[in-house]
Amino acid sequence: SVSILLDCDTGIDDAVALAYLCSRPEVELVAVSSTPGNVDATQVARNNLALLELCGRPEVPVAIGARAPLSLPLVTTPETHGLQGIGYAELPAPYQGIDPRHAVDLWIDAARERPGELTALLTAPLTNFALALRAEPRLPELLRGVVIMGGSYYYQGNTTPTAEWNSHADPHAAAEVFAAFSGMPEDRLPVVCALEMTERIEMHPEHLSALAREAACEAPELALPDQPEGLRSTASVPLIRHLSDMLRFYFEFHRAYGQGYVAHIHDYFAAGVAAGRVRYRTRLATVHVETDSPRLTGTTVADFRGLWAEPHNARIVTENHPAEAFDELIRSLGTRARA
Ligand code: BDR
Ligand code: CA
Repeated sequence: SVSILLDCDTGIDDAVALAYLCSRPEVELVAVSSTPGNVDATQVARNNLALLELCGRPEVPVAIGARAPLSLPLVTTPETHGLQGIGYAELPAPYQGIDPRHAVDLWIDAARERPGELTALLTAPLTNFALALRAEPRLPELLRGVVIMGGSYYYQGNTTPTAEWNSHADPHAAAEVFAAFSGMPEDRLPVVCALEMTERIEMHPEHLSALAREAACEAPELALPDQPEGLRSTASVPLIRHLSDMLRFYFEFHRAYGQGYVAHIHDYFAAGVAAGRVRYRTRLATVHVETDSPRLTGTTVADFRGLWAEPHNARIVTENHPAEAFDELIRSLGTRARA
């Protein structure tokens, strides 16, 4: 089994990742912290609470930490994830409240209580994690592992020509996080799922139809591209209905940016890695995050060859298997939604 502390900025692909984790019987979701990113922190927390309730996991604590990136102003992404971060979905208002603890305290308490047991999964700007590392520098030793969605190492960015969104949103936090792991033993270094891997996790309407079939409910036709914008799903299973309404928006966003009627489910891939349910390979590297250059802010550079002669601080995923990852997602979520 695997015990996960999730930090996210829900966010459509964060929502898929969260629902996936809830669907895996061997995953213990210890807590979910809400980082400002795709939407503000309060909206992220509301989305997380509503999703956990929808997934039958209302007992999982949801906390808020930082309200903005470390040094930059908060810039949200209504064009990518919708005004509320969940596309066209209208989630029921959560009945649980936000945990009164600061996310950083919750993380540190959890890690100290269960040293060596918890895996940190970070699918948002690294603001809260950087603050947690400032407050508890032993965090890298206290955690069992760290998985990060962020950066872009082999080709281009999705926010600037060279920067991926999470790194761009809070480059100072990302730089602090990698610095904190510098020279740690190999098996403690964060596993980094960057854009060149996560853009391969390209969802098509057929995947959504397969998910609906697996969950034994109707509605796949609503995923097709010729439907009027904003049309809501009529799927009989609430989780599938809401995910369809999110993903339709995400398909339309990717199409608007010339990528076809598809959606890159970045954060789900990182969740699969954290859960130990998808195959991947990594390469050791020394990561630098650019914070000063106006054009290159948030750009992540990996030294794979030791040219900087600096200790490693990351394990970058260099190989993954998208078809297998989708099989895993569809089977896990579908089975759970049907149950
Ligand atoms: C990342 O940016 C966010 O909008 C997504 O949720 C994902 O975490 C991809 O660049
Ligand atoms: Ca995210």
